[in-house]
Amino acid sequence: MRIHTFPAAVCRQLYRPSLVRIPRPSLASRQWPCAIRYNSSENPNKSTFPPEIQLEGGRTYKTDSWMNTPASILSAIPRHLHLQPDHPLSITRQLIESRFPGYAYHNEYFPVVSVYQNFDSLGFPPDHVGRNRTDTYYLNKETVLRTHTSAHQADTFKKNETEGWLISADVYRRDAVDRSHYPVFHQMEGARTWDRKSVEGGGMTLAEKIWADVEKIPKHGIKVEDPNPTIHPERNPLQETHSADEIEAVAAHLKRSLEDVVVAIFSAARLAAANAAKQAGLPSPTTEEEPLKVRWVEAYFPFTSPSWELEVEWQGDWLEVLGSGIVKQDLLNNSGVPDRVGWAFGLGLERIAMLLYSIPDIRLFWSTDPRFLTQFSSTRPIQRFVPFSKYPACVKDVSFWLPTSSSAAGGNTPAGPNQGFHENDIMELAREVCGDVVEDVRLVDEFVHSKTGRKSMCYRTNYRALDRTLTNKEMNEMHAVFCKQLVQKLGVELR
Ligand code: PHE
Repeated sequence: MRIHTFPAAVCRQLYRPSLVRIPRPSLASRQWPCAIRYNSSENPNKSTFPPEIQLEGGRTYKTDSWMNTPASILSAIPRHLHLQPDHPLSITRQLIESRFPGYAYHNEYFPVVSVYQNFDSLGFPPDHVGRNRTDTYYLNKETVLRTHTSAHQADTFKKNETEGWLISADVYRRDAVDRSHYPVFHQMEGARTWDRKSVEGGGMTLAEKIWADVEKIPKHGIKVEDPNPTIHPERNPLQETHSADEIEAVAAHLKRSLEDVVVAIFSAARLAAANAAKQAGLPSPTTEEEPLKVRWVEAYFPFTSPSWELEVEWQGDWLEVLGSGIVKQDLLNNSGVPDRVGWAFGLGLERIAMLLYSIPDIRLFWSTDPRFLTQFSSTRPIQRFVPFSKYPACVKDVSFWLPTSSSAAGGNTPAGPNQGFHENDIMELAREVCGDVVEDVRLVDEFVHSKTGRKSMCYRTNYRALDRTLTNKEMNEMHAVFCKQLVQKLGVELR
């Protein structure tokens, strides 16, 4: 079970296509990058962060009371999984890039960005829940680890180098712990804009020019459900300065471009699934005759309007694949390109790669085990991942009373250094203490004491290593440290 501190609808408005939001391996054992280190047992009550941290390339940041980023998270920065040759995330990135000929690729933007870049430049309101320290990793009040690749939209539009561009990068979110969520994951952002001035005096309208570009996108034969009008005055409004005929054309270009990506990916995934079934002497899970089905649904993002998500039918379920929309004109104006109009999208690379290769656990992407890494090659057709083994899980519960002053699971607390209890803090502690052997943490019971009014919660932790069998003794010890830290850092009382 995942507890949100805000209504699901608000969450959807934030960063919706978190296709795959993820956590990472052996975090606990990692040391501070460079010379920085802190020993959490020295002063367990308050987070003890060094006054300054040095990251890759000698970049130095002063920390303050907003700092909430553990060393384990910072140690993911130099990994660059999306660029590692023959890594499934890198192959997936390249497969998608190949569907956007002529676009520029920006794959090395550094993950530390300003609060302005991550939120303000995109029109996130000052009290938006995404800015909370419970959800976002801060280094200091003004500086965060980007929570999405959209943080680079304004800067990339400002450069104004190409009409189309793609950005692939690692992004960071404090989140649940389970097989499809990890606090570090990868996104790809894409955008295509047209300059209104480029058609001046040319005898062609901008809409006509864009429709001509739509014609250049490869045709597909898949079934697309798109029941809603491109523009809806309440649900998906046209921006004030836009004309409906231009936006119809931009939306068509966006949708055809992304449908083309989905066809490429899912055809490869289906082929891989069919080959695996054939090798095992089983019937194919998705028959060739069964057409691929995709659908467009209306969405909301603070930096696009109208906005849509793309969903794909995969083995009987509808899966969100990406978020997209028409770029807000304010963003383009503020980036010094007021004559441009266009679209943007963002997708989660892990989710796509998990589907493409049938990778069952997001922690695997961080594995350095050759039994994982040697299964992928950019020169071979996509083949399904073959799990090397499934090691047994070790399940432990912890029950506690919340501190009397805190509301359960946070409530919609304002951003700031001193917030109440939040479930993401439990997730973070579990990862810090246990690293990647924690597969899943979930709330299994909660109640309020009828006399004292105190709230009790019980969390179940599923421990499982991807490469070995854990002993009960070592897990008891680790779980005891986790429980102790819950008391020391979150002020709960064990029951
Ligand atoms: N940044 C959004 C997210 O992480 C995705 C998105 C990108 C939506 C670009 C619209 C346009 O959910």
